[in-house]
Amino acid sequence: MKKIYIAVLACVAMNAYADDVAEGRAKADVACALCHGPTGMATLPNAPNLAGQQAVYTSEQLKNYRSGKRQHEVMGMIAKPLTDREIAQLSAWYSAVKVTAEAP
Ligand code: HEC
Repeated sequence: MKKIYIAVLACVAMNAYADDVAEGRAKADVACALCHGPTGMATLPNAPNLAGQQAVYTSEQLKNYRSGKRQHEVMGMIAKPLTDREIAQLSAWYSAVKVTAEAP
């Protein structure tokens, strides 16, 4: 019984995660892709890549921009209206992008 309960909980959690990734992607397409690229590989020379970044890190940075703890004119304005939920979705999306690194 306990095993079934845990399996059901895991499925619910996985679905919620998949939803977050899809929602985050849709939001990022509209609000972030211009500078950070459609898959999180930056298209602006002074914008960082977000693809594959740990969700914990991305969330923390967005919250810091929102509160003003991390100062940046553009990102401060962009992060200001974001809700905690939107931040979680955007962070889930960027962390879901698979990145491989290859030394030159
Ligand atoms: C107009 C261009 C632009 C747009 C649009 C934009 N960003 Fe940024 N973003 C930047 C720049 C430039 C920086 C570097 C800021 C700094 O030096 O702190 C940055 C930094 C960040 C960082 C910090 C990354 C790190 O490595 O510390 C995150 C996270 C981020 N942006 C997320 C987003 C998200 C999510 C969106 C959409 C809701 C978005 N940005 C939209 C230009 C943009």
